[in-house]
Amino acid sequence: MNDLAGKHIVLGLTGGIACYKAAELCRALVKEGATVQVVMTEAAQQFITPVTMQALSGRIVYGSQWDAREPNNMPHINLSREADAILLAPCSADFMARLVQGRADELLSLLCLARPIERVPLLVAPAMNREMWAHPATQRNMAQLAADGATLLGVGSGDQACGETGDGRMLDPQELLADLVAFFQPKLLARRRVVVTAGPTFEALDPIRGITNHSSGKMGFAIARAAREAGAEVTLVAGPVSLATPRGVRRVDVRSAREMLAATQAEVTAADVFVATAAVADWRPVAEAGQKIKKDGSGDAPVVAFTENPDILLAVAQSERARSGTLFCVGFAAESHDLLTHAKAKRERKGIPLLVGNIGPLTFGQDDNQLLLVDAQGVQELPRASKLVLARWLVADIAARLPAAATP
Ligand code: CTP
Repeated sequence: MNDLAGKHIVLGLTGGIACYKAAELCRALVKEGATVQVVMTEAAQQFITPVTMQALSGRIVYGSQWDAREPNNMPHINLSREADAILLAPCSADFMARLVQGRADELLSLLCLARPIERVPLLVAPAMNREMWAHPATQRNMAQLAADGATLLGVGSGDQACGETGDGRMLDPQELLADLVAFFQPKLLARRRVVVTAGPTFEALDPIRGITNHSSGKMGFAIARAAREAGAEVTLVAGPVSLATPRGVRRVDVRSAREMLAATQAEVTAADVFVATAAVADWRPVAEAGQKIKKDGSGDAPVVAFTENPDILLAVAQSERARSGTLFCVGFAAESHDLLTHAKAKRERKGIPLLVGNIGPLTFGQDDNQLLLVDAQGVQELPRASKLVLARWLVADIAARLPAAATP
């Protein structure tokens, strides 16, 4: 992916042991297509050298407001004017205090102060010891920074360099990357609540075995991520898959279709959008054997009776909120043939405004896909692309179909 293509990021490093993670972050930003201009405070240079950051960013690092390389000797103006965003990672407790006070006695705080505030966003990734993090002064500074228009990216929790354990660690480079990518996505679903089902279900035969399918959950997880990037509050009801939960998404893990139904029905009561991507098993064994079914030596296979599972999408689509249009329902159809005919019929059968069709065997487990959007008006094709790109297109399409959001 090149989610940051065309973006110019000023990456500011301040004094903290998390500077070692900034090297990885710089690399990740460049890999995602961004150009990165590193600016380091004097304290940051105690932890990592400008040589490392220059090598990774491919640009000379700035560290002084008196840098004579700039013809006009105004690096604070030049660097801040060309940035699409300034990302401070790590941002120390001291540096936050400096920002709050509007200090300007070294290059990084000076350029943050000098940035055109409506055009160049400031993103802050704090990093510090847990006591420093919890201190009222830091919390006060955080609130003030947010009030002054900065975006606070939060902190991680766990073992700290000082040997203590708690909140205050800098987020990992991949988390920061995901947050920055999300930051640049249009907030088409701001103040909306979205519920997504994803993955297969597992219907137990006995304590050892069960029936499931090849769904990887990737499309549903991508939709959850895209909806979150678009500003929605997202709950992902996930069958048994081993994918990482997208940043900022609430995940409810379930196993069987009946568990998925119960979790989904609880979650959609306050939702604006429901997207059913899960490959729900259509049938389950009538009864789950309490013990492992053993071979009895006769050579006969055991006879398993099946019963139909509840249709989660149908149940939600028939709810009062869905029928009145308060809850917008989107279904998926995984077909093996005659996609358009089946997709059209399925949309009508499920009574939903939008159905997304794909060819199951061509998409299960893959990172890309090709979709067919079927609504009452007709059909639209989304060409082959990565699942995340398709998810972003789909989210934009869904957002455009929603009734206008109430103003906050
Ligand atoms: N779905 C569901 N609950 C089920 C079965 C399906 O919520 N028990 C949802 C899927 O998440 C998907 C849509 O219904 O959004 C279509 O699923 P699919 O398996 O393709 O269709 P079926 O209803 O099973 O129809 P068919 O057996 O004819 O393919």
